[in-house]
Amino acid sequence: MPKDKAIRELEDLPGIGPTTAEKLRAAGIDTLDKVATSSPHDLSETAGISVDAAKKAVQAAQESTTIAYETGEEFYEKRKQIGKVSTGSKDLDELIGGGVETNGITEAYGRFASGKTQLGFQIAVNAQMPKDKGGIDGAVLFLDTEGTFRPERIESIAKASKVDPKKALENIILVRTLTTDQQILTLERADKIIQEKNVKLIIVDSLTSLFRSEFLGRGALGERQQKLNAHIHRLQTLADKYSLAVYITNQVMDNPGIMFGDPTTPIGGNVLAHAATTRLYMRKSKEEKRIVRLVDSPNMPEGECVIKITPEGIA
Ligand code: GTP
Ligand code: MG
Repeated sequence: MPKDKAIRELEDLPGIGPTTAEKLRAAGIDTLDKVATSSPHDLSETAGISVDAAKKAVQAAQESTTIAYETGEEFYEKRKQIGKVSTGSKDLDELIGGGVETNGITEAYGRFASGKTQLGFQIAVNAQMPKDKGGIDGAVLFLDTEGTFRPERIESIAKASKVDPKKALENIILVRTLTTDQQILTLERADKIIQEKNVKLIIVDSLTSLFRSEFLGRGALGERQQKLNAHIHRLQTLADKYSLAVYITNQVMDNPGIMFGDPTTPIGGNVLAHAATTRLYMRKSKEEKRIVRLVDSPNMPEGECVIKITPEGIA
């Protein structure tokens, strides 16, 4: 195996194409490690490939999964390279440690009209800015699963930030997805567009709504969570592979089990709770004010701040 063709994901394995990879992921074999520890017979059955092909895939996976030793110092150096997209609000930036980080997933959850989409619009514009202006100098891949993308908003936000609105819109690659299959496939096939357009931010607004409407009832919950898990895993892979930022939005549901305090919990359960690097809970306050609570962060203390949704964007 030539070293320059690095094996990073299932599709890079010999004999594993997108369809086979999708089958494996749906069956929970969603990492190279899992392939590496599978028996060729099981893999052959799950993926519908010959035992010989499965043997080759397992072997390639084993060879590719080297354990990456790294000193704390080296890791710290790498962390310093991480880009941060300003949210438009100084307080919110401070709360989350400087902005929406690359190489990770930032999730905003909350009720309708809590500002999740508006925050997405703002960072879609800001991500395009140079680094010294709170951006990461890249294009944006925007998956709109709810039909709520508004170019007019991008236009006003861009104008207010002194960015050419036409350019701002050109740098946003919009995909309107109507089914979870489309949503999943868009990311499965995103490598090319990410490289061609220098995508540095992926927005999925909303990550969960199509999953929620397609997989109804208790019986479908397992399948929903499995697919959602693979989908999020794919987002994290892209974030790592291309050093890009991921922003996802999520709805909440009432949790009747909670008698005291706030009875709302985000959709997606543990699958999402463990996958998102930074979680923000957004709540409506008076008029244009929104309260943003940092719920989960690897290196920042929990806390809250207030932002405003103005015609010019987040302030
Ligand atoms: P769902 O997608 O329904 O779950 O909600 P969301 O959290 O995505 O809400 P969104 O970000 O769309 O926020 C909607 C709110 O943003 C509205 O209630 C408005 O108050 C505000 N908003 C939207 N457009 C404008 C605008 O042009 N000017 C101002 N000032 N506020 C706006
Ligand atoms: Mg929305």
